[in-house]
Amino acid sequence: MESTTKNLITIEKAKTSKISQVDFNNLAFGSVFSDHMLVCDYKNGAWENPKIVPYGPLSLEPSAKIFHYGQSIFEGMKAYKDENNDVFLFRPTDNHSRLNISASRMSIPEFPKEFFMEGLKTLLELDKDWIPQTPGSAMYIRPFIFASGKGFHASPADEYKFMICLAPSGPYFSGEVKVLIEETYSRSANGGVGYAKAGGNYAGQFYPTQLAKAKGYQQVVWTDDNTHENIEEAGAMNIFVRIGDTLITGPTSDRILDGITRKSVLEIAAAEGIKTEVRTITVSEVVEASKNGSLKEMFGAGTAAVISPIAGFGYRDTDYDLPQLENSYASMLKKRITDIQYNLSEDPFGWRVKI
Ligand code: PLP
Ligand code: COI
Repeated sequence: MESTTKNLITIEKAKTSKISQVDFNNLAFGSVFSDHMLVCDYKNGAWENPKIVPYGPLSLEPSAKIFHYGQSIFEGMKAYKDENNDVFLFRPTDNHSRLNISASRMSIPEFPKEFFMEGLKTLLELDKDWIPQTPGSAMYIRPFIFASGKGFHASPADEYKFMICLAPSGPYFSGEVKVLIEETYSRSANGGVGYAKAGGNYAGQFYPTQLAKAKGYQQVVWTDDNTHENIEEAGAMNIFVRIGDTLITGPTSDRILDGITRKSVLEIAAAEGIKTEVRTITVSEVVEASKNGSLKEMFGAGTAAVISPIAGFGYRDTDYDLPQLENSYASMLKKRITDIQYNLSEDPFGWRVKI
């Protein structure tokens, strides 16, 4: 990774480390945080130099626009440590590009790439001991920006904070994943903000997801808001369906997050000789394929969830089980992508970035 702005980042180290309190063999997802965090303020029309400070609470104006108008965006990334204690990121500049796509949509000032990349590198070097090495675990990285500027006027804030927090994490899902195909609620709409990683997109999912959880499903599969006939994505994951031996995922649009795992899976699958299709997936074809036995797999793909096989889906009060395959595409693709991420294999695509 290039190092051009190192001196621009000031570091205030934590007086004591909390690392001895963490059980690295039993990590949940995103619930413990490393000793430091990065903070960068936008004031007077410019991003100031980033600071690394001890992880801890913030002090904000009650009228800060984040609280009232939800001007907030985030990214999700992971850092992986290999057996030589070398640390790697996966396609990090894609996260930076997507952060700025989200920023534009939410009227948040774009964040400079040098600050993003150098901030990640400096923070990860400082808290390197926190990066887990236990199988299935990684350092979940949460870059985010929110409106810290004050005032009740419903207009973009004049001040923002960009921050990065680090959470050593285990798997996102602890057990099997069953999904409910949703027809009443929508996650996003044409012309909306579905393609942005905007905080409010997730808040809006909580209620329908709680209803689905009460019925025994872990995630909602969102369908298009217009007809509810097409499968779009699953909670915090893009969704793949295998019918016969063809792997299908829906096209991205202004309703769907352009997932980095999704596009990586498509490239790996093609390189493995799997027939892939990026096209609209209808609910009726998935139900029909389940009934006639050609629906072999469904899985979600995302940074937090990696590749999560779907055990079954519910649709209009009927449950459909997926077969349990010995040699599933999901397990092969998960191995290929995590081998690249953890530096266990060659990286023919050039995605791995050593820090
Ligand atoms: N879709 C949504 C709504 C998400 O929140 C995520 C997670 O980031 C994804 C898809 C997967 O994106 P990525 O693979 O870039 O993590
Ligand atoms: C990620 O996969 O990084 C995400 O952002 C999902 C998150 C909502 C847990």
